[in-house]
Amino acid sequence: MIITMRFVIFVMIITLAGKSAHAQQQERWIVLDKESAGVAVQSITGQSLVGAPRFELISLADPTLVAPPPITDENLRVARIDATAVGELQSIMHGPRFKRCGGFTVHESRAAALAEPRNPFYDAAYLHGPIKFSTNIQKQELVGHALVSVKAENIISSIEKLMKYETRDHNTEGGKKSAEDLEKDWKKFGEGRKDYSVDHIEHEGWLQNSVVATIKGTDLDGELVVIGAHLDSINRSNIKKAPGADDDASGVAVVTEILRILTKLEDFKPRRTIKFFAYAAEEYGLLGSGEIAKTYSQAIKSGTGDIKEVVAVLQLDMAGFAGADRHMYFIDDYVSTELTDYLKKLIHVYNGPGDHEITFGNTTCGYACSDHGSWTKYGFRAAFPFESTFAKLNPKIHTPDDTVANLDTSGVHQSRFARLGLEFAIEVGYAAPSSEPSAQ
Ligand code: BES
Ligand code: ZN
Repeated sequence: MIITMRFVIFVMIITLAGKSAHAQQQERWIVLDKESAGVAVQSITGQSLVGAPRFELISLADPTLVAPPPITDENLRVARIDATAVGELQSIMHGPRFKRCGGFTVHESRAAALAEPRNPFYDAAYLHGPIKFSTNIQKQELVGHALVSVKAENIISSIEKLMKYETRDHNTEGGKKSAEDLEKDWKKFGEGRKDYSVDHIEHEGWLQNSVVATIKGTDLDGELVVIGAHLDSINRSNIKKAPGADDDASGVAVVTEILRILTKLEDFKPRRTIKFFAYAAEEYGLLGSGEIAKTYSQAIKSGTGDIKEVVAVLQLDMAGFAGADRHMYFIDDYVSTELTDYLKKLIHVYNGPGDHEITFGNTTCGYACSDHGSWTKYGFRAAFPFESTFAKLNPKIHTPDDTVANLDTSGVHQSRFARLGLEFAIEVGYAAPSSEPSAQ
C-alpha cells in the first residue's frame, strides 16, 4: 500500500512537473510600448491549453517584487503571452497602425521583463548626466587621411557578397557560413599588424557566430570603443530568401570598409582598443549583442579581466536607403544623448558643405529596435545614426526584395556612414580621459 501511495505521489509529481514545464514552454514574457500593448490586449483573446489568457498585461507593481526600483521608462508595458499568440502580435505590429518589424522584446523570466521599465539607463538624463563625454576633437590630420580613403564601390561589393547566401538567418547554414566567411575576410586586413586580431564568438542555441575584430589600444587598452552591425537577415513571411541588403548587409559592409581603412592607416595607433562586431541573431531579439554586452558588463564589474570600460558604442543598422530629405537621422531613444551630441559635433567639424557633407536630423524607433539597445541596457553609451526617418522606412526590409538594386547603388549614401564611423573611431580612440589636463 505504502509502495502504491508512493508510486501515485511519484507519478503525480512527474505529471505536475511535466505540465508546468509544458506551460512554461508555452508562455513568453515580453516588453512592449503602451500603445501597442493597448491594441494587443483588445485583439488577442481566448485562453491557452492550460486555461490562462493568451495575452495578459502584468502590473508593473507586481506583488512578487520586493522593494522594486522606480520606473524609468513610462512608455513600457510587460505582458505574458502564449506562444500561439506571438504570430498575432507580430501581425498587429507589422500592420498599418504600427508598421513595425517586431516591436517587442522577449525576456527569459517574469522578473527579467519586469526589470526593463525600471532600467535606470533608459532614463536619458541618467545616461548623459554624470559621466562627461570627451568633446575634444584633435586628430584632424589622421581623420583627413582616413576620410579620403573611403571607396563607395567596396561597400557595394561587400553588400553583394553578403546577399549571395540564400538567407543569413541566425539558425541556418547560410547564417553560419556568412559568419565563417566574414571572419576570414576580416583576418586578411591586418596581416602584418601585431595589434590586430579577429575572432568569433559562439552562441548557445543557434548556429551563427558573432564575429569580432580588434585593434588593440596602446596605453588605455582596457577601454573599448565599439562599432557594430548585425550580420543576420530575416524574411518575416517565412519564405527562405532573405538577402538583407539594407538590413543589415549595408551596416556590415560599412563596418568592413572602416576596418579596411583603419588597419591600413599609417600611424593609427589608438590609445583605446577598438572592437568591430558583426552580431549574430539581432532579428530574434538582439540575442548576439545581448550576450556580448552582458559578458562585458560582468567582466567590468568583476574587475578581474583586462577590460575596464566600454567607452562608446556606434550601431550601424541600415545605411543604404536614402528615404528622407537629409543624409542621416539619429535615433533618439534607447541611446546616449551625450554620445549622439558628440557625433553631431564631429559632423560639424568634418562634414560641412563639400564632398564629405552630411546633413542630419533626429528620428525615434519607439522601442529598442537594434543592437544599441543591448549596450544601453547595461549602461554603456551607444548612438545609432540611421539612413532615413522611421516614418519613411525602407519598405523592402525583411522581404526577398531587400536587394542592392533597391538601395543607393552608387554607395554614396553608405559612404557617409563610413566617414562618420572613421571620425568616431579615431577621435574617441585617441581622446584624452577627463582626468588628463589635455582633455577639454
Ligand atoms: N534594422 C531593424 C531595425 C530598424 C527598423 C531600425 C526600422 C529603424 C527602423 C532591425 O533589424 C529589426 O528588425 N529590429 C526589430 C526589433 C528586434 C528587437 C527584433 C524590429 O524593428 O522590429
Ligand atoms: Zn530587421
